[in-house]
Amino acid sequence: MKYDPEFLENYWMPFTSNRDFKSDPRIVVRSEGVYMYNDAQERILDGSSGLFCCAAGHSRPEIAQAVYDQLKESAYVPPFQMAQPLSFELARRIAKLTPDGLDYIFFGNSGSEAVDTAMKIAYAYHYARGEGQRQRFVSRERAYHGVNMAGVSLSGMIKNRQAFGPGIPGVVHMRHTWLPENRFVKGQPETGVELAEDLERAAMNYGPDTIAACIVEPIAGSTGCLVPPKGYLERLREICDAHGILLIFDEVICGFGRMGTPFAAQAFGVTPDIMTMAKALTNAAQPMGAVAVSERVHSALMEAAPDGAIEFFHGYTYSAHPGACAAGIATMDIFDKEDLVGRAAELSTYFLDQIFALSDISLITDIRGYGLLAGIDLEPMGGPGVRGLDFQKRLFRNGLHLKMTGDCALVAPPLISERHHIDRICEVFRKTLGEY
Ligand SMILES: Cc1ncc(COP(=O)(O)O)c(C=O)c1O
Repeated sequence: MKYDPEFLENYWMPFTSNRDFKSDPRIVVRSEGVYMYNDAQERILDGSSGLFCCAAGHSRPEIAQAVYDQLKESAYVPPFQMAQPLSFELARRIAKLTPDGLDYIFFGNSGSEAVDTAMKIAYAYHYARGEGQRQRFVSRERAYHGVNMAGVSLSGMIKNRQAFGPGIPGVVHMRHTWLPENRFVKGQPETGVELAEDLERAAMNYGPDTIAACIVEPIAGSTGCLVPPKGYLERLREICDAHGILLIFDEVICGFGRMGTPFAAQAFGVTPDIMTMAKALTNAAQPMGAVAVSERVHSALMEAAPDGAIEFFHGYTYSAHPGACAAGIATMDIFDKEDLVGRAAELSTYFLDQIFALSDISLITDIRGYGLLAGIDLEPMGGPGVRGLDFQKRLFRNGLHLKMTGDCALVAPPLISERHHIDRICEVFRKTLGEY
């Protein structure tokens, strides 16, 4: 057998129980549309868009062709003090989708880098305006902002922080927005708006003029799809405005149509000052992340620098990489041509109805959902995450991929999915839970 433990030994897999995996590997050799195929050529329906990133379906030939053409023409151009044309074009395409006023786009290579970049922009903005004392960040329990040290410091998921030192100083966490009374509520809960007052408390506790920014995922994704209570994001916006605090939305999961709008900011009618994105930006065909910045923030940095000076001492060797830009533009073309955002909006009601219809299963303790994103909590079995891993492996064997976070299954089908794919997700889910 090719995939024996010896063959698998050298690759240290990320966010994986390596020893368990290598004794029972799950290898995917091919993917197309809403399906992946394992090494026995068995079909696995992708119910989580990979890791929320293959919004337009797997392995789109248009994107592969665009990347190939670009790499042949010019595989690399240094992005510092020079540029290649696609970087401008992709930035323009993204700016068409972002909420009005969030028109300046900075590129990196991942969601984690986008979060680092957003934090540095926030520091630099206040510094440029003579408010360099604003160095605190307000984040939230159960937040996930990637794995670089900035994101780890902001993170509210304990396992992602526990072993990695104290992190950057000055991060304050608000309470998360999951409330027991809102179990099995579809969409935005009616109660819980008062949780936003944690930001006001932090401002009063530390001094409003010490806080640089408040960062939240509009829907906390990786912790299990925590949908914000009605009025919650609006209230965060008000508090930020009252105290000169920047509001950052981390839209790495929510962005690019998953909410039935280009970004969650539009779905919830709240515009942040800075927005991070990644994942579906290139349909996962190339690594890329980006930060969208408001005119106010951008011009503060531009105006503070002397003529000819670099305005923001930040960037990556692979910022706006030509291959990633080509993938991004080809992805945006597919979004336009196939109206993927409209499709997501149209499919959402059916999706949520079918997912919430699983709530009769006694092993399910909660379901939350919005747009084409849902979290289904399972009754734990012999310790946190044990059932989650076991269930994920069983699902895979039964032909379905779902991302698990602890004991929560995250359902996020590709935006090209059809109703029968949703039916199949629910059917395999129910059957597999029936194995316990
Ligand atoms: C909200 C959020 N921010 C940041 C990240 C990190 O993105 P990446 O894994 O591309 O670094 C993720 C990844 O899931 C995410 O969900």
